[in-house]
Amino acid sequence: MGQAARSSAGVVATLDSARRVLKQTVLTMINDRTAVVGLIGLGYVGLPLAVEAGKAGLKVISVDVDPRKVDAINEARSYIPDGKSEDVAALRAAGKLEATLDYAALQFADAVSICVPTPLGKTRDRDMS
Ligand SMILES: NC(=O)c1ccc[n+]([C@@H]2O[C@H](COP(=O)([O-])OP(=O)(O)OC[C@H]3O[C@@H](n4cnc5c(N)ncnc54)[C@H](O)[C@@H]3O)[C@@H](O)[C@H]2O)c1
Repeated sequence: MGQAARSSAGVVATLDSARRVLKQTVLTMINDRTAVVGLIGLGYVGLPLAVEAGKAGLKVISVDVDPRKVDAINEARSYIPDGKSEDVAALRAAGKLEATLDYAALQFADAVSICVPTPLGKTRDRDMS
């Protein structure tokens, strides 16, 4: 094996090792409930997901572009049929659920779920570009 190949194999091994350590760290933080979940989009998918993560004991920081939704969560109200207001109120009281318009808040999250609408192209097909 040449010098370049050895060096590239070394980089791959180092990255693999870092990935394993990171994965183990995140799993440990999820298990001991110290992980902070970031969530983008508080709609029909995002809000129930935020509530379930909070009920599981994880802190959730959520971001939405709609100030009415952000205000509703911070005032402990749900706006969707299956997002029970009493769950939102309990999570707010426990300090487990925050909503904001500010993406910078996600710097405190250990993992982020994106729950925004799928972008559609001119023909209404999914545009994943
Ligand atoms: N609702 C379902 O049953 C369902 C099922 C399967 C998959 N999905 C997929 O899940 C995703 C979310 O669906 P949904 O039903 O929750 O949509 P939704 O329209 O109810 O909610 C989307 C939320 O994202 C917010 N948002 C939009 N752009 C944003 C941005 N740039 N930054 C932050 N927030 C933003 C909106 O204000 C809204 O609150 C979509 O991709 C959808 O295709 C939904």
